[in-house]
Amino acid sequence: MHLHHLRAAGVSVVLECPPDALPAILHWGPDLGPLGAGALEHLAAELRPRSDQTVEVPIRTAIVPEARTGWMGMPGLSGHHDGGGGWSPAFTDVTCEQHGQRVVAAATDPYARLGLTVTVELDPSGLLRARAELRNGHDLPYTLDALNLVFPVHGNAVELLDQAGRWSKERVPQRRPLTVGTHLRENRRGRTGADAATVLFAATAGLGFRRGEAWGVHVGHSGNHRHYAERTAIGRTMLGGGELLLPGEVVLAAGETYRTPWVYATYGRGLDEAAHRFHEHLRARPGHPVRPRPVVLNTWEAVYFDHDLDRLLDLADRAARVGVERFVLDDGWFLGRRHDGAGLGDWYVDPAVWPDGLHPLAERVRKLGMEFGLWVEPEMVNPDSELARAHPEWILKAGDRLPPPARRQQVLDLTNPAAYAYVKERLLAIVGEYDLDFLKWDHNRDLVDPGSAAHGGRPAAHAQTEAVYRLLDELRAAHPRLEIEACSSGGARVDLGILQHTDRVWASDCIDPVERQDILRWTAQLLPPELIGSHIGAERSHTTGRRHELGFRAATAFFGHYGIEWDLTSLTDAELDDLAGWVALHKRHRELLHTGTMVRVDDTPESVRAHGVVAPDASEAVYEIAVLGRPATWPPGPVRLPGLDPETVYRVRPLTPVASRGAAPVWVSGELELPGSALAAAGVAAPPLFPEQSALLHVEAVTATA
Ligand code: DGJ
Repeated sequence: MHLHHLRAAGVSVVLECPPDALPAILHWGPDLGPLGAGALEHLAAELRPRSDQTVEVPIRTAIVPEARTGWMGMPGLSGHHDGGGGWSPAFTDVTCEQHGQRVVAAATDPYARLGLTVTVELDPSGLLRARAELRNGHDLPYTLDALNLVFPVHGNAVELLDQAGRWSKERVPQRRPLTVGTHLRENRRGRTGADAATVLFAATAGLGFRRGEAWGVHVGHSGNHRHYAERTAIGRTMLGGGELLLPGEVVLAAGETYRTPWVYATYGRGLDEAAHRFHEHLRARPGHPVRPRPVVLNTWEAVYFDHDLDRLLDLADRAARVGVERFVLDDGWFLGRRHDGAGLGDWYVDPAVWPDGLHPLAERVRKLGMEFGLWVEPEMVNPDSELARAHPEWILKAGDRLPPPARRQQVLDLTNPAAYAYVKERLLAIVGEYDLDFLKWDHNRDLVDPGSAAHGGRPAAHAQTEAVYRLLDELRAAHPRLEIEACSSGGARVDLGILQHTDRVWASDCIDPVERQDILRWTAQLLPPELIGSHIGAERSHTTGRRHELGFRAATAFFGHYGIEWDLTSLTDAELDDLAGWVALHKRHRELLHTGTMVRVDDTPESVRAHGVVAPDASEAVYEIAVLGRPATWPPGPVRLPGLDPETVYRVRPLTPVASRGAAPVWVSGELELPGSALAAAGVAAPPLFPEQSALLHVEAVTATA
C-alpha cells in the first residue's frame, strides 16, 4: 500500500509513496471523505499524470520533481558533484513511513550517493507543510543550486494572486491569469522583503475572501527565497518554493546535509479560510502569546533621535495615563547614535545622552506599571562606529569590495563566530541590565553581496539567516519572558520562518489609516491580528502627510496588537482622555479580537471596506465598516456581515458614536436585532460617513433559537 490519505479540517491530501521514486501528492484540496484502499487506488489511477509524447512511462510529479521521470518543468533538486556527476538525480531506493498526520520518505540515489529525506505533514488546521533534507554521501563535494518543493493544484485553477509592495506600502495584492509557463517570484534581498510574494495563490475564477477555491504556498524563510506557479504542457499546475541559493553558497562535503525551510501549503474555499489555517497553525504554537497583548507606546514617531530624559519621562507619564502597558524606547539610545548614520554595532548606552544609563527612564516606566522595551538592530553595523573601526573584517562583502551603502550601514557577518559572540554578549548584557520585557529587532537594509571572509569569501545569506534564528533562540532561552518583535524597515520581515523565533511583526512604517486598511487586510492573509503591531499615529501621517481624525486612526488599528506612536506631550487633556477611551475600549474587546475568527467582506459598496472578528463560539463579533473615498452613488448601500451563527439572533450596535452625514441606519441606535443568516445574506446599511472615516459595530447574541 503506497497510498496515504491525510485528512484534517476539510482538507484531504493523497500522497503516493512508491518504493522506487520520491513521494508525489496526487490530491491536495477539499476533503474527499473516507476512502478505502480500493477507492484510493481507483482515485490514484485517475489522478496520476499520464505519459505524453516525450516519454513512454507515466510522468511523476513528485514533491521534489525529478527530470529523469519525464518531468519537464522546474526540477526540485539542482546541483552537481565536483567533476560533473550527480547533476540529474534519480532517487530510486525509497522507504516511506506514516506517523499520524506526518509522512516521512527516506530516499537514496545509489549512483550519485545522495540521500534525501522528505517530510510532509498535515496540521490539525488543515495547513499542509513539507521540507526536505539532502545528504551528500559521496567523497566528492556536492554544489547545491536549488532544492524546491512543489504542491499540485486542481486543474480548475485559472488565476494567480500574490503580493508586491515597497517600503511603507507592503503586501499589495496583484492578480494575473494562470497560463502555461512559470510565474516566478525570486527574492535576493537576504531578508523577506517588502515586495515578498508572501502567499502565492492559484485559484478558481473570481476568487474572493469567502468564495472560490484557493491553493496557496508560502516559504517560511527570512532570507533569499523563491515562490513559483508553473503550468506545464501536460496540464499540471504546481505551486513551488524554496530557499534561493547564491552561486556556490551551499557546497556539501562528504556526510554534510542541507535542510530546506518549511514550505507551507494552504487550501481554502475563499481567502479567509486559507488564512484561517495559517492563523490556527500559529495559535497552536507552544510559544504563541496567550496573555493579553499589552498596549504599546513606541517612541519613534514621537521623538525620533531626540532623546531627552525629561521629555521621555513626560511621554511615559502620559502613556501610563492613557492606559499604555508597554513603553518601547526606539532607535537612538546607544553610542554615537544621534542620527541614522552612526553607531550601529556599538550596543552600549550612550553616556553623552544618558549619563545614568537608561535606569531613570526604565525605573519610571516600571513605577508607572508598564513594561520596558528597547529597539535594536543586531545584524547591522555603521562604518561610522567603534565596532566597524575595530573589525572591518566583520562586514559581509564580496571580496574586498564593500556593498553599496544603504541607510549608511552595512551587514555584520554573524556567521563569523567572533562577531556572533560579540553581538550575543552585548544583547544579553543590555537585556539583563534593564531586565527588558521586549525587544524591537530591526533590520534596515538588503544583503547586497553578502560574502563572508570567515567562509573563504563565499556567499553567506543562508548561514546568516540561520545565525539570526539561533541568536534569537539563545536570547529567548536565556530570558524566557522576553518578547521580540520582527521589524525590517517596517514590514519587510513577515514570514513564518521569523515567527518561529519572534512574537509579533511590525507591519509597516506607514501608520496612515487609509494605507493601513490594506496593509493590515493583506498581512492578515498570513498572520492573525494579535501578531501584527498596529499603532495609532499622529493626526498628520509622517509618511503620507494626510490628516485623519482620531476615530479613524484608532478604529483602523483597533484589531491588531494595539499601540501608539505619537508625541503625547503635544496633546491636550481632552485629547488624552479621548485616546484613553480608545485604549480602554480595545482592552475590553481584545480577547475576542485576538482569539476570534477573521472575516473580510466581499462585494462591499464602492469605496467601502468591511472586515471583522467573530468569537470562536460565535456569541459576539466586532466589525469595522470604513468609507475610504467618495462613491458615485449615495448613501453607500448595504454591507453583509458574514461569519455569524445563522440561527442565532444578534443585536447590532455601534461601539463608538457614529458621525452619520444624513439619516443614520437603525443599527446606529443600537436597536437592530437580526439572525446571523439575515446579517450574512442581507447585512446592514453602511453608515453615511465622510471619506476616511469608519464605524465599529458590536454584534452580540441575544438568543439562540432552537
Ligand atoms: C525602521 C523601523 O521600521 C522604524 O519603526 C524605526 O524603528 C526605525 N527603523 C528606527 O531607525
